[in-house]
Amino acid sequence: MRTVVFLMFVLLSMTHSVSRPQCHSCERTSCKCSRQNLTKVPAVPSNVITELDLSFNRLGIITSDDFVAYTSLRCLIMSNNRIRVIQEPAFNPLTNLEKLDLSSNRLDSLSAGWFKNLASLQYLNLVGNMYKTLGQGNLFQSLKKLKSLHFGGPHLQSVRKSDFSGLSKLEELFFDGEKLQVYAKGSLRQIEHISHVTLSLNGPFMTNPALVKVILTDVAHPNTTLTFTDTLFYKEDQMSPFHVVSDNGTKSLILKNSTMTLTACLTVLKMLSQSDITVLAMEDTKIQLIILGPVTAPQKVDHLEVLILKNIDIPRYYSYPVLFLLKPILKEVQKLTLIHSKLFAVPCKTSGDLLDLEFLDITGNLITDLVLREMMCNGNGVLFNLQTINISRNHLRSINSQLFTKLDKLKNIDMSGNIIYTMPETCNWPPNLQYLNLSSMHLEKATTCLPTSLRIIDLSYNDLTGFNIELPLLTELYISGNKIKSLPDGGLYPRLSFLSIQNNDLNAFSKNDLKTFKILKNLEAGANTYDCSCDFLAFMTSDLTNHRITFGDEFKSYICDSPDAARGKTVADARLSVFECHTALALSLLGLGILAVFLLFAGLCHRFNVMWYMKMTWAWLKAKRKPKLKKGEFEYDAFVSYSEMDSGWVEAHLIPELEQSEPPLRLCLHKRDFVPGSWILDNIMNAIEKSHKTLFIISKHFVRSEWCKYELDYTHFRLFDQNVDTVVLILLEPIDKETIPKKFCKLRRVMNSRTYLEWPDEDNQINRFWQSLRAAIRRPVDIIRFNVDE
Ligand SMILES: *[C@@H]1O[C@H](CO)[C@@H](O)[C@H](O)[C@H]1NC(C)=O
Ligand SMILES: *[C@@H]1O[C@H](CO)[C@@H](O)[C@H](O)[C@H]1NC(C)=O
Ligand SMILES: *[C@@H]1O[C@H](CO)[C@@H](O)[C@H](O)[C@H]1NC(C)=O
Ligand SMILES: *[C@@H]1O[C@H](CO)[C@@H](O)[C@H](O)[C@H]1NC(C)=O
Ligand SMILES: *[C@@H]1O[C@H](CO)[C@@H](O)[C@H](O)[C@H]1NC(C)=O
Ligand SMILES: *[C@@H]1O[C@H](CO)[C@@H](O)[C@H](O)[C@H]1NC(C)=O
Repeated sequence: MRTVVFLMFVLLSMTHSVSRPQCHSCERTSCKCSRQNLTKVPAVPSNVITELDLSFNRLGIITSDDFVAYTSLRCLIMSNNRIRVIQEPAFNPLTNLEKLDLSSNRLDSLSAGWFKNLASLQYLNLVGNMYKTLGQGNLFQSLKKLKSLHFGGPHLQSVRKSDFSGLSKLEELFFDGEKLQVYAKGSLRQIEHISHVTLSLNGPFMTNPALVKVILTDVAHPNTTLTFTDTLFYKEDQMSPFHVVSDNGTKSLILKNSTMTLTACLTVLKMLSQSDITVLAMEDTKIQLIILGPVTAPQKVDHLEVLILKNIDIPRYYSYPVLFLLKPILKEVQKLTLIHSKLFAVPCKTSGDLLDLEFLDITGNLITDLVLREMMCNGNGVLFNLQTINISRNHLRSINSQLFTKLDKLKNIDMSGNIIYTMPETCNWPPNLQYLNLSSMHLEKATTCLPTSLRIIDLSYNDLTGFNIELPLLTELYISGNKIKSLPDGGLYPRLSFLSIQNNDLNAFSKNDLKTFKILKNLEAGANTYDCSCDFLAFMTSDLTNHRITFGDEFKSYICDSPDAARGKTVADARLSVFECHTALALSLLGLGILAVFLLFAGLCHRFNVMWYMKMTWAWLKAKRKPKLKKGEFEYDAFVSYSEMDSGWVEAHLIPELEQSEPPLRLCLHKRDFVPGSWILDNIMNAIEKSHKTLFIISKHFVRSEWCKYELDYTHFRLFDQNVDTVVLILLEPIDKETIPKKFCKLRRVMNSRTYLEWPDEDNQINRFWQSLRAAIRRPVDIIRFNVDE
């Protein structure tokens, strides 16, 4: 029975692991398995996975063993699935989990048991599910380290005091109470001083402002930034909860993704007029030009310092003088951000009221040169406290420096992203200008328009082909995204510590180029068309590490464009061959090598008489090609090879004895029978060919004589080919065989193995000598021929 259960268990666990899907988008420690139609938690690829993103899948039920193998997990995202059920122990293995996102699922009840083991959890998102309450109470009791809690949704009806027990460290709270009906007073008060509270309370604002008041009383605190989001503010009486904001001393208030009537807007401003609000922001908000009932114009907001209006949508904005209405609250504002809101006009008179303004950001509006001129009162002096102005991404067509000339405090001007094509030769900037952003325009040339007071200049993403304006105080230079071919001359920028020149047409730079920059610390020069010469590669990979300059951008963005061998490779990966790197050295080494081989070859030739062998082979081949003489066709009986020194003996003894004997033998003597004018070797070869035998008169002279060597040579060579019998050796005097050169090995062997004729010392032996010699030379050929052939 036990074995059956065990087998079933094994089978079950096997089928279980087999049926788990795989996530194919895992990196080393993180799996991004979003939008893969997963219906089950995928199998774990390795046990070091710390991040698992399962959002936008079709998970329905989370089972107890889904995460058993994910013990290292720190971040688990399961938003936008169809999760209805989570088995109680499902998250138990995740003791290291810090972030859990279960938003936008179908959970209709929450259980404290899920979080029992999640003592490390810091972020929890439960927004957008179907639960009506936060479980049975004490839901978050175990989450001692929770810092950020997002809860609520379209079904949440009631919040009780016990729901938040145990939470103490919370820094951020998002509360979606769109349909909230019951809120137990003091519930959120238990969590002390949450620094960011975001409330989405559209329903209560509409139907039960008192409920909102109760909630606000619990969270509104001077040190808490309050955000209201996703809300429609319509009528005046809806706005009464803002009294709490004002009374409890809230300093930062943000209205986000809301729709407001003009009535609601003016009511809020009125309520805040005597509050401690210092930061007021409206983001992604639509203001409807509807006025319901009597409204008073807004008054000054006493402590307002920062006003942020971002993405404000005012339908029919052309007919509405926004700034005129805002005027009273702008009076003491120091920072005004009014971006992406179709701002198209700022009267000179309005700017005249912004006496305290230090920071003005009007990015992404409809400001033209004309509007700017009006705003700056034609450059006659306004906004005297301004330190920073951001006019980026508007519709400016010229630099307009003269409009700012009188602003002594102005240090930073950002005009990036306008449609400016040229820079005048001279400009009139404010005297203390330090930062100028002229990036993302269409400038083709930088001129002396740039003031020498600049510390930071950004000219990235223009059409510059070079940059050589002297700026003695400059510390940061941004010229990425142009068409610059070489590094600027560092001598013009003695204070430069940062240079960004990515994405240009830079081919290379050298140590010397960088040396001109006296105190450069940080260089960003990736994404250029580098010519990866050996010097450059060496400089980039080794020299530079000893250098004081560091690369601010990723080293892998330094990619070679040439030579072909390195194209597309990063500077770190590119390798050039030694030959490419040290051409001159390599060439001379190669030359030396060739010379050495040649010398070695010549030496070997000499040592092993290669030339001799070659010469002989050639002669032998030539001889072979000639038709062989038949035995009867020999012209001579013997060719006599002898040294000149031995000619006395030859003439006195040999010739008379052999040629005048009976029958006479025909001898071939070089003196007599060689054809004058022919090459000596040819003559010798001919003579030997035409002779029945070759007679060597060997003496000490013979061995030493150059002349005889040819004959000896050739004969010796023929010995390989032909019958040894053709050679007759006569030793005129006793001779040491060792004196015969080694290459005549065969001859030496012949001398060793065969008897040779020795010129006798005693006279009575001479007759026998001649007899033997004649016998050795005579050819029996004729007789044989007659006998056989006939
Ligand atoms: C998921 O399913 C949808 C509809 O069935 C299909 O269009 C989509 O391509 C699928 N996505 C993946 C990653 O399989
Ligand atoms: C608000 O925060 C400041 C510093 O951030 C702190 O000094 C002050 O005590 C806090 N006020 C309250 C009432 O907690
Ligand atoms: C903005 O609020 C509306 C409801 O007023 C909501 O439907 C929408 O999803 C919200 N948008 C964002 C980006 O939160
Ligand atoms: C807000 O003010 C009310 C009334 O003065 C006070 O009871 C409450 O404690 C304050 N809320 C916070 C969070 O301090
Ligand atoms: C100006 O606004 C742009 C866009 O928001 C921003 O990137 C830039 O840093 C701002 N410049 C200054 C000087 O604040
Ligand atoms: C210049 O403006 C661009 C675009 O607004 C911005 O991205 C960049 O960071 C700014 N440059 C500097 C040096 O602040």
